[in-house]
Amino acid sequence: MIRIDKYLCATVGVTRREAAIILRNKRVTVDGEIIKSGAVKIDEMALVLYDGASLSLSGPRYFMMNKPLDYVCSQEDPSHPTVFNLFDELGVDKLHIAGRLDVDTTGLLLVTDDGQWSHRVTSPKQRCGKKYSVALALPVTDEVIGLFEEGIQLKSEKDKTLPAKIEILDERHLYLTLYEGKYHQVKRMFASIGNKVVELHRDAIGTLLLDPRLAPGEYRPLRESEIALFNAKK
Ligand code: URA
Repeated sequence: MIRIDKYLCATVGVTRREAAIILRNKRVTVDGEIIKSGAVKIDEMALVLYDGASLSLSGPRYFMMNKPLDYVCSQEDPSHPTVFNLFDELGVDKLHIAGRLDVDTTGLLLVTDDGQWSHRVTSPKQRCGKKYSVALALPVTDEVIGLFEEGIQLKSEKDKTLPAKIEILDERHLYLTLYEGKYHQVKRMFASIGNKVVELHRDAIGTLLLDPRLAPGEYRPLRESEIALFNAKK
């Protein structure tokens, strides 16, 4: 158990005096109850909200977002809103994206402040598949399955792309699973065979699926079991 004012000092970085004022102004709830006195002791695992944003003593944070169209995956951008603008959390500047998506791509985005974890999500060595729904301008034939499985030599890349999996839905729609994340990779792979991606959406990273309850622009914390999918293998 820990005093709520100490908890606020540790998580928000305020002084005891400031914590007392924050509490007096009824800005903090613990498991749904407004707490006004700094002396109240709370469980370290309690759900503590400060102005509606959750706090955590235990360090790293992990979220999934359904990235909307026309948002960029960087902390700042001169011409587009960024996905970080959609996070109602403290210390958003400490978060980063594990596997960015283009401005015109939608779907599963993982956001964290744990660099080692995001490295395991994105490193090709981990063989963690990223599954995309792809809509194309021109029809494809089954031939593309073999081509992408063999690897494509993209311009200004040293190596061919790693073997990718394709599941054709109809002649202009398919699922593509990649095991790496080169710049604009999906679009460049289809461009290299004379086609054009017109819609791109990420459905899954490894076995983690985008939560269908998240509307575009919404996010939620990952569950322990979801975080553990990308923990180091022992
Ligand atoms: N490949 C692309 O071309 N764009 C993305 O956003 C993701 C993968």
